[in-house]
Amino acid sequence: MRCDHTPAWQALQAHAASFRDFDLREAFAADPARATRLSQSAPHVFADLSKNHTDSATEALLLALAEQIGLAAHRDAMFRGEAINATEGRAVMHWLLRQPPGAAPAGLAETFAQVEATRGAMLAYAEQVRADAGITDVVNIGIGGSDLGPQMAALALQDFAVPGKRFHFVSNVDGHELAAVLQQLRPERTLFLIASKTFTTIETMTNARSALAWFRAQGGTEVARHFAALTTQVSAAAELGITTTFGFWDWVGGRYSLWSSIGLPLAIAIGAQGFMDLLAGAHAMDRHFQSAPLAANLPVRLGLLDVWYRNFRHCSSRSIAPYHSALRRLPAYLQQLEMESNGKRVDRQGQALSYGTSPVLWGEPGTNGQHAYFQMLHQGTEVVPVEFIAVRQPTHRLAHHHELLMANAIAQAQALMLGKAHAGGHQHFPGNRPSTFLLLEALTPASLGALIALQEHRVFVSGAVWGINSFDQWGVELGKVLARDIHARLASGETGGLDASTAALLQRVR
Ligand code: F6P
Repeated sequence: MRCDHTPAWQALQAHAASFRDFDLREAFAADPARATRLSQSAPHVFADLSKNHTDSATEALLLALAEQIGLAAHRDAMFRGEAINATEGRAVMHWLLRQPPGAAPAGLAETFAQVEATRGAMLAYAEQVRADAGITDVVNIGIGGSDLGPQMAALALQDFAVPGKRFHFVSNVDGHELAAVLQQLRPERTLFLIASKTFTTIETMTNARSALAWFRAQGGTEVARHFAALTTQVSAAAELGITTTFGFWDWVGGRYSLWSSIGLPLAIAIGAQGFMDLLAGAHAMDRHFQSAPLAANLPVRLGLLDVWYRNFRHCSSRSIAPYHSALRRLPAYLQQLEMESNGKRVDRQGQALSYGTSPVLWGEPGTNGQHAYFQMLHQGTEVVPVEFIAVRQPTHRLAHHHELLMANAIAQAQALMLGKAHAGGHQHFPGNRPSTFLLLEALTPASLGALIALQEHRVFVSGAVWGINSFDQWGVELGKVLARDIHARLASGETGGLDASTAALLQRVR
């Protein structure tokens, strides 16, 4: 049943109306067990949900909503490999990529055998590159899911990276990006990874062709040694002259592809064992999502909170505050994950929705954000739920830095909630601003895997409640088509049929 037709949705609307005056400070005063009751552990992640705008009635109604829209059945359909991405007629099985060796799920033995064979080949190649002192630079050329995942994870896990190799990520068609990387390279010491699920993305194809041309112009030989393609379209790679290939399947969405061959740059950086640990951490979160009761299921609780804020508290954005500088690409990664998945205006049947879907996600690492936009979080007119992500153990020895960092993360969550009364308006902090606090013991391949899988599943949960297909992305197509047309017009100067603004811009740029 669509969420807005369920009894729970109606009840949540009534509840929200009576909830307008909810105050976190009063909620804590009234319930000494609130922090414990609203905290929970999931694999590798501890979550304090107590500073959110909810009470027991909210939680019960959100769980009722999950039951009434059939969340568990939808989740189970994904884990059975059903074609829940109906607009593309595809299964959604990125989770299968993280199954442990030998653990083929029922009915998927053949597919899992392919996964294991490809994974084995990809990891063996990663080890070979790691051991090859002749390769000093690895350049990933890809965009969107073929860039953000490996880039975010390689940065996050830089302390685990093999010494003696530099990793570069080129995504933008803006030639400044490729040119800046190329000038640091020598062809005989470089491995280019051309990462594209479809092998048609114009940015990646343009960068790949330019990289190949540069390689040859610099006297590079042995394309098979210096270029590898990570793609579902192995034959398209061969047409470009790239014969070293690692495949994956159409049932892996681009933004869910870190776990596939698209993870190769990361596997080179952290090694086969590190990559398997990443998968194991994510798999542990998969198991939690599949088996924990909904009331104690962290992705479910986060996804339902997202629905509560979006549809019943009218919050249109969520701020991500990773208190770890190595997680600085996490907000960008989560933007694609959530906004490309749930930025939809129709339900799975194509009917227009009358309620909001994906929030806007944004953020920067703390403490930097504190000295930039946290002003707005504390005293602005919008209430923005904040998601703090902190790591208890640092990998450096500057203990006093880490204590300061942790103190700031905790203090910001506290300040948002408590506020500070002041008679003069400018120095008044209203407080009662919600946040979630996620804590990892240490930032490791396993905990990063779990954190990312947690985020994937919470996006699944809110998408399931909203009744949308979280696994297609038709909204990116129109711009691609129009860019082709404008590109041709930039060459020809033809402006016939264009609106006046587009025509004038085109003339000005030519
Ligand atoms: O245009 C959007 C998109 O298709 C994303 O979904 C995807 O992650 C990205 O482009 C890159 O696609 P590909 O891996 O096929 O080059």
